[in-house]
Amino acid sequence: MKFIDTQDISGKRLLIRVDYNVPLKSGEIQDDNRIRASIPTLKLALDKNASIVVCSHLGKPKGQVNPELSLASAARRLGELLNMDVPLAPDCAGQETLTMAKNLRPGQVLMLENLRFNPGEEKNDPDFSRQLASMGEAYVNDAFGVSHRAHASVVGVTEYFDLCMGGMLLKKEWEYLSKVLDPARPFILVSGGAKVSSKLGVLNNLMDRVDAMLIGGAMANTFIKSMGYDVGTSLVENDLLEEARQIINKAREKKVSFYLPVDFIVGQGIDSSEDSEVVPFQDIPADKMALDIGPSTCTLFAEVLNKARTIVWNGPMGAFENRAYAQGSYNIADLMADLPGETIVGGGDTNALIHKLGIGEKFSFISTGGGSFMEFLEGKPLPGFKALEKR
Ligand code: 3PG
Repeated sequence: MKFIDTQDISGKRLLIRVDYNVPLKSGEIQDDNRIRASIPTLKLALDKNASIVVCSHLGKPKGQVNPELSLASAARRLGELLNMDVPLAPDCAGQETLTMAKNLRPGQVLMLENLRFNPGEEKNDPDFSRQLASMGEAYVNDAFGVSHRAHASVVGVTEYFDLCMGGMLLKKEWEYLSKVLDPARPFILVSGGAKVSSKLGVLNNLMDRVDAMLIGGAMANTFIKSMGYDVGTSLVENDLLEEARQIINKAREKKVSFYLPVDFIVGQGIDSSEDSEVVPFQDIPADKMALDIGPSTCTLFAEVLNKARTIVWNGPMGAFENRAYAQGSYNIADLMADLPGETIVGGGDTNALIHKLGIGEKFSFISTGGGSFMEFLEGKPLPGFKALEKR
């Protein structure tokens, strides 16, 4: 794969695919980390007198124009971060937009409107890919977060350029995630979040690579129940009990240490902190649900993590949206932040948790990917990477 820092881009008009799929509330950006993460690539290009056509999707407008999902706020925010004017084109294709792109002078930036307003984007439509490609003279993919999607702006578009390359964010994601393929040992996976179903691929794929797995979050309940214990009203995926048993057996066979919580904070429900209490894993009351890992689990997990040289973490340890059930996730995050080994984190909830604590700087790497991070860990080839490799 070629990356932008080694290619001759001087004076070229670059089509740069970024992932500005950021959370919005009444048109206001709630978290601009994905926009910030693209700045090194954009600055590098501007320093080389390139002109830039930035393109991204936002949300799931399903091929229809939806003003609520306009990239207007993202263009404004990018302009603030670059300290320059970043106009938003009226569309992501069409003559008017193309003319704006072609009129760009070196050092100028134009943002296209939401790519998913056009039905051709998600269909990887060749005609839309060609139209998009006509906006630039060389192509840069700096959108790791969407590199698991075989969409026009990620895959199809690469067919129409002589020069295709990854941006600095893609390079960083690639370098850090590659450490998972050849990790310093002990290598430990910390997996949490609500569902085993969304983690099966990762648990199975990493079983051959890790020395230990630490399981928290509601997904732990399915494992505990699969061993024959009652879990009260806790969230459980009953159709996955057999699968959970198989994972435990596989870990045993492969001599991977598999740690489940030894105690929980239980309560009436996510929104209520009344009557919450700490109980051992085998004593969850019939009318309560597990909502966080307990203090003994934090101590146990800390002992294991202290020995790690590489850690990959995805998914919170409990329902951290409610402060009453956030302590387990906070403890694990704080502990990991101070560890000397490589600490690699990904996924929307885990990223939100770390940013909430303001300790992002203390991790080796926080991936901007959600689905793409998971698919990489599942061992699936990412179409966006494959398209760049092919070119
Ligand atoms: C993400 O937020 O994970 C990426 O931007 C991909 O978005 P999508 O799941 O809507 O394709």
